[in-house]
Amino acid sequence: MIAQSPQDIDQLKKIGKIVALTIEEMKKRTQPGMTTRQLDLIGRDVLLSHGAASAPMKDVQFPGYTCISINEEVAHGIPGDRIIQAGDLVNVDVSAELEGYYADAGQSFQVAPVETEVDRLCRHTYATMMKVISGLKGGVKLNQIGKTMQEEAKRGGYRIIENLCSHGVGRSLHEEPFEILPYSEPRDRRVLKAGQVITIEPFVSTGATYVDQQADGWTLKVPDRSRVAQFEHTIIITNGNTIITTVC
Ligand code: CO
Ligand code: CO
Repeated sequence: MIAQSPQDIDQLKKIGKIVALTIEEMKKRTQPGMTTRQLDLIGRDVLLSHGAASAPMKDVQFPGYTCISINEEVAHGIPGDRIIQAGDLVNVDVSAELEGYYADAGQSFQVAPVETEVDRLCRHTYATMMKVISGLKGGVKLNQIGKTMQEEAKRGGYRIIENLCSHGVGRSLHEEPFEILPYSEPRDRRVLKAGQVITIEPFVSTGATYVDQQADGWTLKVPDRSRVAQFEHTIIITNGNTIITTVC
């Protein structure tokens, strides 16, 4: 969507904060021995306590309130009987709707004990997302997003998962601009507009450059033993400093 009024911005911040609080709570309460379904229900409770609805459940009939992906799973992991183990790399991706406005955010973290290499991957992915966000305003080419993601991943000795994109959001979970590529594609001549609401979500990998969809129709996995981290914020483009909606 294009945010047109102060009311639009307030509503986007309101649902953004709920999404951020949900992720924080899920992260804080992640324990070895619990199932991903138990973790999902913690997320559900936070969303419901604020009157928000799970966007993937509402918009695309996803079989869970939140997406929880572990280790070789990179995105769209279905909460279920999988037991979280010490040392697992967990990704929690929460998107939700309140009064017709949407926000989408995600974080990767390792369940203790934290290994230096995994910690570095997570930090580098967060820094990549923030570096992309800091360079955006009205008039900048969309292609700048993928170009920066690719450059930053490479600078850290990593690769980018090329078939997972950032996207427009705001009045639904996925909307225009669709497919904001995570690598440079000079033929993409689209330009960012002030008020535009988009996600920035790099998937940074220790090796693989793509994910495959599994037989369950949702879960996206790397084809090898690469580790992948994702961080995601929903942002509003302005002519000055970008507004990040998904903060507590
Ligand atoms: Co997301
Ligand atoms: Co997203």
